[in-house]
Amino acid sequence: MPLKILVGTQWGDEGKGRIVDLLSSQSDIVARFNGGDNAGHTVNVSNHTFKLHLIPSGIIHPHTLGVLGNGLVINPKSLLIEIEMLRDSGVEISPERLLISYAAHLIMPGHITLDRAKETNLGKGQIGTTGRGIGPAYTDKVSRKGLRMIDMLDLALFEERIRLHMQQVNYDLSFHYQTAPLKVEPVVSDYLEYARQLHDYIVDTGAVLDMALHEGKLVLAEGAQGMLLDIDHGSYPFVTSSNVTATGVFSGLGIGICKVENVIGATKAFQSRVGAGPFPTELDGEMATRLRGTGAKPWDEFGTTTGRPRRVGWLDGVLLRYARRVNGLTDLVLTKLDVLSGLEQIKVCTAYEDVNGEQYAIPPMGITQLDQYKPVYETLPGWQEDLTAVRQWDDLPKAAQEYIRFVEKISGVLVMLASVGPERSQVVEVPA
Ligand code: GDP
Ligand code: IMO
Ligand code: MG
Repeated sequence: MPLKILVGTQWGDEGKGRIVDLLSSQSDIVARFNGGDNAGHTVNVSNHTFKLHLIPSGIIHPHTLGVLGNGLVINPKSLLIEIEMLRDSGVEISPERLLISYAAHLIMPGHITLDRAKETNLGKGQIGTTGRGIGPAYTDKVSRKGLRMIDMLDLALFEERIRLHMQQVNYDLSFHYQTAPLKVEPVVSDYLEYARQLHDYIVDTGAVLDMALHEGKLVLAEGAQGMLLDIDHGSYPFVTSSNVTATGVFSGLGIGICKVENVIGATKAFQSRVGAGPFPTELDGEMATRLRGTGAKPWDEFGTTTGRPRRVGWLDGVLLRYARRVNGLTDLVLTKLDVLSGLEQIKVCTAYEDVNGEQYAIPPMGITQLDQYKPVYETLPGWQEDLTAVRQWDDLPKAAQEYIRFVEKISGVLVMLASVGPERSQVVEVPA
């Protein structure tokens, strides 16, 4: 079947970008279906590091077509900056290589200001958003007053819509958040200019994808964020505002339900989270610093979009099992296995225990009340060897092989690949 789906199984930053880049060598189209420039996907190729926020990570391969589906909220300024960044690095971007859905929503400066004002208002209850205007843009979408890419195709009408939107935003800012209103004219002129520049990229991407799938072309859907941040299935309210899970692919790309070859879950060999919200296996102190790194290495656990230090902890098998169920995962890719080298012992959470001592394989009410559980751990032996030069299963230390097999056992999903460094070639195929 021609459709493959790659999603994050944790709280984002699992290494999706580098896996999508890898899988893209065999894909004709790579399509984003959710989120916006809150995402930060890193791809390392031949000593060049690309940090992509909107454009699909498959774009580095010259043969792929990138698609931004209707499920996205797009900041046109960020998109144009990213197009320039790619061009400067020798990656050609044109309407022959990148298509944007007419039905994707626009992020406006007012959404960004509202995002920050809402967070300030929440005080101690802050979600810790990326401050990119994601929540307010999706709020406008659901309230049926958002601006969409299609609006950019008629400049006169677009201008009217921007002005109306600015009136509403400025009312909100002044009366609900006691924040200074935004100047209207610069927003109007900037967005009319963005519309001119993006005009030729805007099409019915659902129709293009449908045709491609019927012709047997290989389409790879690239998830943003991780499923524990899903608006329906995540650790609500500490979530993002889109459907992150694999089932969001169909509505977020505008294609009907069709057979899917693989639903691949990108899973970090430990757990990380940036922003607030429950995190049962979170570590602090020395072990946290050991897993996070100090920021000296490019892959240390600091946000790709915001630079914030990520919270870190042991791999949570309960949440991985839940991710398998909600996404219908068929395979896992285990990333950052190299980071665990040098530990005497590695813990993995295999169950949760409540205050009465009752244990759960998956909590009965999903994952919204994670704070009330204590993780139950199994301890595995670590390994001391550096894995970064390993390319064959047989060359992995026995304890690393056992760790991978243990992840398969607790999740119920086979690991197809393990990555041992950020470069394209630093992967090990895992035999079934
Ligand atoms: P994404 O949002 O899921 O695409 O992940 P990010 O790009 O935000 O964060 C993953 C970070 O880990 C990036 O700096 C990657 O280059 C890096 N990375 C990915 N896979 C590996 C790996 O196997 N080992 C190491 N050391 N770094 C990795
Ligand atoms: P990638 O695609 C990690 C988190 C934010 C915050 C919550 C809501 O790189 O994995 P938002 O700005 O979306 O309203 O913030 O979601 N978040 C991410 N965390 N990786 C991401 O993307 C994220 N995108 C959003 O930190 O907790
Ligand atoms: Mg990221």
